[in-house]
Amino acid sequence: MSKKVLAVYFTQTGQMESIIDHFTAPLVTISGTTVEKVRISPLRPFPFPWTSQEFFDAMPESVSGATIDLEPFSVKENKYDLVIIGYQPWFLSPSLPIGSLLQQPTFMALIKNTPVVTISGCRNMWINAQEKIKKLLAAADARLCGNIALVDRHNNYTSLVTILYWMLTGKKDRKWGIFPKPGVSDEDIADSAHFGKTVSDHLQKNEWEHLQTQLIQQGAVQIRYHLMFIERKAGRLFSIWSKVIRGSKKRSALLVAFKYYLLIALCVAAPVILLVDALLFKPFLSKRIKQQKEYYEGVYLK
Ligand SMILES: Cc1cc2nc3c(=O)[nH]c(=O)nc-3n(C[C@H](O)[C@H](O)[C@H](O)COP(=O)(O)O)c2cc1C
Repeated sequence: MSKKVLAVYFTQTGQMESIIDHFTAPLVTISGTTVEKVRISPLRPFPFPWTSQEFFDAMPESVSGATIDLEPFSVKENKYDLVIIGYQPWFLSPSLPIGSLLQQPTFMALIKNTPVVTISGCRNMWINAQEKIKKLLAAADARLCGNIALVDRHNNYTSLVTILYWMLTGKKDRKWGIFPKPGVSDEDIADSAHFGKTVSDHLQKNEWEHLQTQLIQQGAVQIRYHLMFIERKAGRLFSIWSKVIRGSKKRSALLVAFKYYLLIALCVAAPVILLVDALLFKPFLSKRIKQQKEYYEGVYLK
């Protein structure tokens, strides 16, 4: 009997939809699997393009894991052989629509005791968001079997400029004709079909134990030390900002402060801290760094 797969995702620009289309294509063409695609939407849509104020206003709730109402949606089955979740990090956390979906009791019941594969498309910082997804899936008793993280491979500062240009203007072209196109490259989106083929093989055998190892060998997740380092520090600081802003009556003023803090932290503080780390700490911590990388590549929750 043909296997049944649910691919549920959110997207604003269409990037995640394109990823889901390429990624799931081999499941249908090679093994004749039935793939049901469901695009979720917030009841109150987020703006796109964003204004700067609206963009940063999404931070406190994304980071705290607050929920929003989603447009009602239905699925055809009450049990699937595999559920694929396509998401994007917002401020190092699952985007609000996906974080909310994973806390919906009906969706939690649907994915209970079910293999889940997550696929994300982001600028380059997905580690913290994936750790939060791991926790949400564990709370639903779902079984995370695989993870693929697609990123913009350009330099961290180049992609910071281009993502803000994309998000704040809605244009996915080359800023000033100089910068590269923002987002995950078209080649990487198309190549996600290779990962889909691997998932398809494991789905046919109903063998999930070794899926992530194989995906890692194929380059489905690639951890760059300096980004992991920044994320680990930033994740903790974002939580503090989120708590302070959510508990304050001066939300707008604090969000402006957070915006400048973030830009200074990324552009001024991070390079200095990374340099100090490279000279004084990193050379002596190679074993620990290797363990951290292996943990974040994996699908297990500490
Ligand atoms: C509010 C907001 C916050 C974001 N935060 C991050 C982030 O923390 N890390 C990252 O790599 N990308 C971040 N991005 C980029 C998204 O992960 C994603 O790549 C982009 O929004 C396009 O996704 P979509 O069109 O499929 O929704 C952010 C985007 C938005 C709109």
